[in-house]
Amino acid sequence: MCGIVGITSNKQVTPSIINSLRKLEYRGYDSAGIATLSKGFINEVKCEGRVDILEKNLSKNKLLGNIGIGHVRWATHGIPSTINAHPHSSEKVSVVHNGIIENSTILKNFLIKKGHKFKSQTDTEVIVHLITEYLKTNDLKKSVLKTLSKLNGSFALGIIFKDQPDLIVGARRGSPLAVGYGPNENYLGSDSYALKSMTNKISYLNDGEFCIIKKDDVEFFDADGNKVNKKILTLSSSEQNYNKGDYKHFMAKEIDEQPTTIKNCINEYLDKISNSINIFNFPWKKNEISSIVLIGCGTAYHSCLMAKYWFEQITTLNVTVDIASEFRYRKNRFNNETLYVFVSQSGETADTFAALDLCNKKKMKTCSVVNVVESSIARESKFVLPIHCGPEIGVASTKAFLGQMLVLYILCLKLAIMRNDINKNEYHKKIKSLFSLSKLVNQTLETESKIESLCSSFVNIKGSMFLGRGYSFPIALEGALKLKELAYVHAEGYPAGEMKHGPLALIEEGMPVVVLAPRDEYYKKTISNMQEVIARGAKVLLITNKNKDEIHSENIWEKVEVENATDDLLPFLITIPLQKLAYYSALKKGYDIDKPRNLAKSVTVE
Ligand code: M6R
Repeated sequence: MCGIVGITSNKQVTPSIINSLRKLEYRGYDSAGIATLSKGFINEVKCEGRVDILEKNLSKNKLLGNIGIGHVRWATHGIPSTINAHPHSSEKVSVVHNGIIENSTILKNFLIKKGHKFKSQTDTEVIVHLITEYLKTNDLKKSVLKTLSKLNGSFALGIIFKDQPDLIVGARRGSPLAVGYGPNENYLGSDSYALKSMTNKISYLNDGEFCIIKKDDVEFFDADGNKVNKKILTLSSSEQNYNKGDYKHFMAKEIDEQPTTIKNCINEYLDKISNSINIFNFPWKKNEISSIVLIGCGTAYHSCLMAKYWFEQITTLNVTVDIASEFRYRKNRFNNETLYVFVSQSGETADTFAALDLCNKKKMKTCSVVNVVESSIARESKFVLPIHCGPEIGVASTKAFLGQMLVLYILCLKLAIMRNDINKNEYHKKIKSLFSLSKLVNQTLETESKIESLCSSFVNIKGSMFLGRGYSFPIALEGALKLKELAYVHAEGYPAGEMKHGPLALIEEGMPVVVLAPRDEYYKKTISNMQEVIARGAKVLLITNKNKDEIHSENIWEKVEVENATDDLLPFLITIPLQKLAYYSALKKGYDIDKPRNLAKSVTVE
């Protein structure tokens, strides 16, 4: 999704802006641009396509200046094109914008009547002309305040001004925005990652705030223009995590990192000596929670669906799972005894953030399961459970999915023991088995070569299905999502028991169907459902776990066996071959694995 960079310095800023835009490439985008201020003029260079093209254009058309803004755009209003790329500029003002201005048509009509001429199809251009209009009769701060008050929707903005050669204005409503501090220069970024190569000293704007950034000073203001004080945070995490190393793609690296990320997470939350959970500061008592609502989008939603099975199995809590974009507009029955859990890798997903915000406004108990601990969702939640995965750069979520499931499973055990829903022996046993998970995941990664040899059957097909029951159903959904987003193949995840209620009609001779049937309590039922699709011509890839018992079924096309584990932990293992299947299918097609078409890593618009 869109990304913003702004730099004010005592040296040339274009090279550093390009460098930071490269850091934002992982978010997914379709055009890019930069504007700087030099000798009293705003100059811009923009392009459709990647930052590489922008850099080439800049070699022909040098952009000088000690102050500038840059942007990578993921199209919402108007097609991906050079004209629609940001920054958008008038003679006086240049703007980069993340988010959507919902009343842009009304504002555009108002501005056209005032004589403003529009070049692009974007909603962003109204911001440029509004500020330009208000600057005719107001000072900078008033013009900004007046402009912001007219905008409906969500935005993070970076603005430079022809007549203010020493400052950048940043403003935030909904979409995240960070300020970074450097030596004789300061920065604006849509996330701290964009600024990472320049500084680890960061402040975040809260919703409704704006800031004025000069090279040696930053001032923050609330929505009424009153000055506010900000904490400067020092971020950790080494730069090396952001490199691919010897891997061709971040996704491949991130899949292979899973044994390590699981180990790190387990070390953070579990005590090996007592076989218990180290979450000491959990803010609520056992009689304060009687139900739990798990909310997320995409892969994070699938981890919530998975957790529902564990919560129902291990605790006596009532459990509901919701897609954030549905939850936020539904007429919810808010309940003081409900724990609302928000799951998000980035911690910036607009719908998940809006759902959290809604719960906070209703004074509910909110907890987030996030990877990025400095994110908006983490900062706004009453309690945060990090998944400790390190940066995930590939657009397709892999290690974060396993991390989310793991933390939700640990939370489930924590609530179960706190509420006496589980006896101590059982609790210690489950925790003990978690200590072997990292090794099991590592061994299961060895299924890679088999999967690689099978993937050509998933490349040029009309569609495929992923079937599972119980614990394997959410994993089937996740496996189908991975194949869709990476290999652009239609894939549907379905509860195996539902096939005969309609989708069986889709099965035809040779259609690849992935059946997830580990030897858990659902195994026999799933195998029966597998027979039904084989009988109708499906080419079944069975994913199960190693076991000495024979599988009583004929005509299975191929079988991949993951390691053996407890029923609770098998979902982690059967995920691995599905991640690899999507990866190798996309690789075979020559697709852009880390940046699939039309997608963004962090979905900061609704
Ligand atoms: O950052 P989040 O976990 O909130 O992101 C949610 C989804 O956008 C994300 O999981 C998406 O579905 C991934 N591309 C899936 O691989």
